[in-house]
Amino acid sequence: MKALVISPEFGLQNLAVVDRPDPTPGPGQILVRVRAASLNFRDLLLAKGQYNPRLQFPRVLGSDAAGEVIALGTGATRFKVGDHVANCFMTDWADGPITDAAAKSAIGSDRDGVFSELVALDERAVVSVPDHMTFEEAATLPCAAVTAWNALTTAGTGPGTTVLLQGTGGVSIFALQLAHALGARAFITSSSDEKLARAAALGASAGVNYRTNADWDKWARQQSGGTGVDVVVEVGGAGTLERSLKAVRTGGHVALIGVLAGTGAVNPLLILMKAVRVQGVFVGSRAMFEAMNRVIAEKKLQPVIDRVFPFVEAPAAFKHLESGAHFGKVVMSL
Ligand SMILES: NC(=O)c1ccc[n+]([C@@H]2O[C@H](COP(=O)([O-])OP(=O)(O)OC[C@H]3O[C@@H](n4cnc5c(N)ncnc54)[C@H](OP(=O)(O)O)[C@@H]3O)[C@@H](O)[C@H]2O)c1
Repeated sequence: MKALVISPEFGLQNLAVVDRPDPTPGPGQILVRVRAASLNFRDLLLAKGQYNPRLQFPRVLGSDAAGEVIALGTGATRFKVGDHVANCFMTDWADGPITDAAAKSAIGSDRDGVFSELVALDERAVVSVPDHMTFEEAATLPCAAVTAWNALTTAGTGPGTTVLLQGTGGVSIFALQLAHALGARAFITSSSDEKLARAAALGASAGVNYRTNADWDKWARQQSGGTGVDVVVEVGGAGTLERSLKAVRTGGHVALIGVLAGTGAVNPLLILMKAVRVQGVFVGSRAMFEAMNRVIAEKKLQPVIDRVFPFVEAPAAFKHLESGAHFGKVVMSL
């Protein structure tokens, strides 16, 4: 089978689709023929050596795939041959609060990922794909969508709440669609007016260009009637956190997710004087994935795919993600 491997060292130039032995499903595992996979910012960071400096080479990258079950290992009973499934980001987080063991069971970094034609997966770390979705669409869910769902639901997002989203990448566009589905009003920032128009078409109540309006925190407060938003889905990290803390209301919630915006200083006074809850988010459990899929199925939500690359062009897909030109998710078809 073919797999996308990084070797012998970090660098996008060291990504290659190579031949690897076919896996066989062990006890409790299922064998999945991967039909589509999606890229996350994490994969870029991993390939560049900015996520896991101790990564062992060669390593199969990838945390997100969807495909068809083609064989069952002994004792595997949750799925049958022919089922359409997607993997979970972590193998050991079925339900409940995150644990150290769950966090360490993330795939595609310390252990091989799913950017390959065949994968043997622990059946407990797999979910059924919503019936209305293509494999390309389902492959966008395991990391970005579950992260957005975890961030929003942990923050208590619901009818009448306001949510601020940053940029129009994978996590933020899922957060926009899911916030809308949960009955919240979403405000969104972007470096591009054209992308803001597309976000409005997806249900964003208002948008602002963070390049031409650096004071997007003030803008967000105005949008929410002057008090500040209930929830910020914070994907920028140190470079945006201070403004996010200004944009959120007293007693509001900042879901800390990403590192897109580089470095910056944060004044802790903003957190304590406004009694803000700053909650780290690390993707989510299988139970969260399944709960999200029920809402996605009920609302017939369609993930936003920017572009689909053939698997052999995986290095070009990484370059496309790196360019930041995308809106939503970048997918590979196998
Ligand atoms: N903690 C977790 O569990 C978890 C899970 C998933 C992702 N993440 C992290 O969350 C972040 C987003 O991931 P992703 O996969 O959605 O990335 P992505 O799809 O690559 O998102 C890229 C987009 O982010 C926007 N952006 C870049 N710099 C920005 C800035 N300074 N301010 C506001 N927006 C900015 C840009 O949107 P515009 O072009 O519209 O400006 C850009 O196109 C990454 O740091 C990733 O590592 C964390």
